[in-house]
Amino acid sequence: DWVMDGHIDEAVAAIKHQVGDEEVILGLSGGVDSSVAAALIHRAIGDQLTCVFVDHGLLRLNEGDMVMEMFAGKLHAKVVRVDASELFLRELAGVNDPEQKRKIIGRLFVDVFKAEAEKLKAARPGSKGATFLAQGTIYPDVIESGGAKSKKAVTIKSHHNVGGLPEQLGLKLLEPLRDLFKDEVRELGVALGLPHDMVYRHPFPGPGLGVRILGEVKKEYADLLRRADAIFIEELRNFNDAETGKTWYDLTSQAFTVFLPVKSVGVMGDGRTYDYVVALRAVQTSDFMTADWAELPYALLKKVSSRIINEVRGINRVTYDVSSKPPATIEWE
Ligand code: XMP
Repeated sequence: DWVMDGHIDEAVAAIKHQVGDEEVILGLSGGVDSSVAAALIHRAIGDQLTCVFVDHGLLRLNEGDMVMEMFAGKLHAKVVRVDASELFLRELAGVNDPEQKRKIIGRLFVDVFKAEAEKLKAARPGSKGATFLAQGTIYPDVIESGGAKSKKAVTIKSHHNVGGLPEQLGLKLLEPLRDLFKDEVRELGVALGLPHDMVYRHPFPGPGLGVRILGEVKKEYADLLRRADAIFIEELRNFNDAETGKTWYDLTSQAFTVFLPVKSVGVMGDGRTYDYVVALRAVQTSDFMTADWAELPYALLKKVSSRIINEVRGINRVTYDVSSKPPATIEWE
């Protein structure tokens, strides 16, 4: 629509003015905010933008390929994909504590991004390289890092974000979404040509599957979880609610699968199985501070359970999480 087009023109002009003929580097995560920021900045300055996509190996099924297809393929943006999954798995080996896992993932993310930024610069001797670091900071993040957050007495979970990175890299900040609320960011994304499904995705935590595999993270667990979770999400998108006509994906605020590293006994054909358990989690919330577990239709749960158990060898039991927040949190770690 023309209102949004006007906003885009204005934002594009502001970015061009701020950046001039300098270069920008941006950490692409596949999340909504960094994706919309990348699309907007690319619209403004094209090849003066380089996106760095750090793949920590804890993404959802095919997510890395989808990000590349969208940004490098469709938008023709410069994107460097760094496959750091082995490094992340190695550093996470033997680590069980959720907060420690978050810290390790956050630290490695910064390390890998910094190394890549330096590599890009070294590859072009004589050039200044990037002088701006772009971030998908949105208005609620700005408020959170001001007054509200510091008043909180207890940190329940340390949400890693890439704080302090611009200073460490000696870069200026470019934050074109700073004044926007989430719904405005989404509208902007659609207007910039990003697919509706990408822009209206449920939130996904920075540490990714790292906090959805309870305890120690292993590649075997991540691979099983990715396949089970893809089935759950696919069925949520397939199932429509008769009353509203909406899909259950759109009727829930966040839905995902959690990997439990315990084995239980099952039976398949005339054999006994002894395999892993997963939990399905789906919540409804307006602010993610409190949340109700979603009353998914039994038919949906039944379909998801039977598909996971039949299609993902290694998982023989599916449970549904009926805990609200508080006292439970949305994620299990
Ligand atoms: P909890 O589990 O605290 O989650 O009820 C509330 C919301 O925050 C997300 N979450 C995270 N996001 N890094 C993130 O970027 C994190 O470490 C993290 N932990 C939780 C969670 O997915 C939910 O949307």
